[in-house]
Amino acid sequence: MDTDNFRKEYIELVASVREYMEEQLQLGFIEAELREPEQQSPYADFDLPALATDAGNCTKCPLHETRNSVVFGVGNTNADLMFIGEAPGADEDRQGEPFVGRAGQLLTQIIESGMKLKRADVYIANVLKCRPPGNRNPEADEVATCSPYLMRQIELIQPKVIVALGSFAARMLLDTKIGITKLRGEFHECKVAGLHVLPHKKPPVIMPTYHPAYLLRNPNAKREVWEDIKKVLTFLAQG
Ligand code: URA
Repeated sequence: MDTDNFRKEYIELVASVREYMEEQLQLGFIEAELREPEQQSPYADFDLPALATDAGNCTKCPLHETRNSVVFGVGNTNADLMFIGEAPGADEDRQGEPFVGRAGQLLTQIIESGMKLKRADVYIANVLKCRPPGNRNPEADEVATCSPYLMRQIELIQPKVIVALGSFAARMLLDTKIGITKLRGEFHECKVAGLHVLPHKKPPVIMPTYHPAYLLRNPNAKREVWEDIKKVLTFLAQG
């Protein structure tokens, strides 16, 4: 056999083994850990209470020096729908709960008046668990240090859909530098490296949309957010 044919056959063989393994993985006949074992969450053995306790004592980045509270997350720990924002603001830092300030009230309105759900039915968290001083943007190393907490939250809650609120959440969940304006309005594959998904479960799909704080400054964008949210409702209704 000449080299070209051998190469072609080799590539076909690798592709068919890969396809077979993917199918076995989806059917639950092999363990999901086989996919990327080296990137497993450092909190793989933690349940949510243990994770919250660990985050509550976290001193891994300088934000612990200025925080009043660690804002871990709130809501239904079996939710199909998760909202992920950027980082706590002053109100959240004071109260220890995500999205309770002005932007949070708007998010609650979207969930309750728009989606006809209760805030307590969904799960709400942020990329960063501690407030950046003066509400500055999160630094890349803060996101890298803190994101394993969010990754494990997603693994434990196993939502069907995650609404990424704003560019920081979208960038982290989609592992991209593309801006929110281009990303929003379409479902994307979750690109959190090493996210462990149970064999019988599908990884969450991500719907990026504008952050509620942006909507407070640009009320006209509420229409686009509502379009995005309607797609999420349709997706959830389809089971
Ligand atoms: N903005 C966020 O991104 N998260 C909060 O919890 C509050 C405001």
